[in-house]
Amino acid sequence: MKRNVLLKIVFTIICLSLMIPNISISQANAAQTDQWEKAKERGELRVGLSADYAPYEFEHTKDGNREYAGIDIELAKKIAKDNDIELKIVNMQFDSLLGALKTGKIDMIISGMAPTPERKKEVDFSDYYMEVKQRMIVQKKDKDKLKTVDDFKGKMIGVQKQTTQEELAKTEMPESQLSSLTRVPEVIMSLNSGKIDGMIIEGPVADAYLEKNPNLTYSDVEFSDADKTTAIALPKNSPELMDRVNKSVKDVRDNNLIKDYQDKATEAMFDDGSFFSKYGSYFLHGIGITILLSFLGVVAGAIIGCVLALMKLGNSKILKSIASVYIEFIRGTPLLVQVFLVYFGTTAVLGLDLSALICGIIALIINCSAYIAEIIRAGINAVDNGQMEAARSLGLNRTQAMKQVIMPQAIKNILPALGNEFVTVIKESSIVSVIGVSELMFNAQVVQGASFDPFTPLLVAAVLYFILTFTLSRVMYFAERRFSVSD
Ligand code: ARG
Repeated sequence: MKRNVLLKIVFTIICLSLMIPNISISQANAAQTDQWEKAKERGELRVGLSADYAPYEFEHTKDGNREYAGIDIELAKKIAKDNDIELKIVNMQFDSLLGALKTGKIDMIISGMAPTPERKKEVDFSDYYMEVKQRMIVQKKDKDKLKTVDDFKGKMIGVQKQTTQEELAKTEMPESQLSSLTRVPEVIMSLNSGKIDGMIIEGPVADAYLEKNPNLTYSDVEFSDADKTTAIALPKNSPELMDRVNKSVKDVRDNNLIKDYQDKATEAMFDDGSFFSKYGSYFLHGIGITILLSFLGVVAGAIIGCVLALMKLGNSKILKSIASVYIEFIRGTPLLVQVFLVYFGTTAVLGLDLSALICGIIALIINCSAYIAEIIRAGINAVDNGQMEAARSLGLNRTQAMKQVIMPQAIKNILPALGNEFVTVIKESSIVSVIGVSELMFNAQVVQGASFDPFTPLLVAAVLYFILTFTLSRVMYFAERRFSVSD
């Protein structure tokens, strides 16, 4: 027993240590070729951003079609056009962008990003294309109470995670408490519901939200370091790409194009229509992807899970240990971590260029296979030992006994548990939204950003998830009853 545990630990350590040198090697390689060469070779310029940030970047519907809009989008289009290359927008969370740029998932970040000294250690920045003011917003009823930095002593300030707003809160308001959330709509929602007392936010973004949230307003708080610039982040050591980007930026500044981009964005922001006519298609699309993800996760997971369960139940010690290590590792780590490991690992370690959707599917399959392996193993083990003995004494060999006697009985234990797993996966699959897979939760977040209404989209998503899981459990329930009738 002890030897077995030791073996597993050694095996895991070997696996992990094999991965580490690879990571640094591929990052070193990444630094050598100019990122422009890579983009040119694939014929596509990948621009990363976080589309929760109107008027910089957001999604909206135009003539029934979804599209990205905003200042940064126009700028990205211009850079692609100036350089005669296809543009691909890669939408993800703001705090994942730098990682994506450094691992080569994207060629540049245009996401209202300020060139701070900390970021400059990791990536390079173009010349700036905008200057913006940092502001504080509060609930209207608090406007007279919260006028100075001192008034916020002991109060809760909200910011988007890993932004300059977070920095500002830490340096200029050290006596306030800080709540850092991943996405801007979440911070707005906290402010609306009184969970936080104020939010630090960039002027143009604040304007957009104030328009749609009439109970919020600007506070009179002034920051000493309120002016920030906004620039494009590029991988280190890509002089050619830098050169090309700076040429476009210069053009934008010389011709005052930002003003035009901003007008266009405002127009796209406030086009009218009811909530469902504007955003219904987002949710429908999201449901489709969620079902696809969960279905593939469970089906492929069941196939791999079957193999793993047989490895675990078989006689070979090596196969047994491999299966155990795999199952324990996957069940002992959060799905969120696995999703990021697959997403960044496939590029950094394996050098593969996989889309977010494929990475999301792989992560779910890996995760499901471990749980399903245990479901299958338990299902088989639950069949009474005497059944195998009886089958063998009737002259069947082990495989025949397994196939004809044990499995048919085991299936009855396995199927209901598999159904539960399916229901679980439908809910859990929402986690892959972090890497930008366009499933239901991701679309709810897109609608939050596009509608400036942080609450309704979540409610709709909750109802839709419930309809999916409830329907599925009903179907399972009837299937089970049919099965027991056939008993
Ligand atoms: N300007 C701020 C920064 O550089 C916030 C940018 C947030 N961008 C976004 N797309 N959510 O950190």
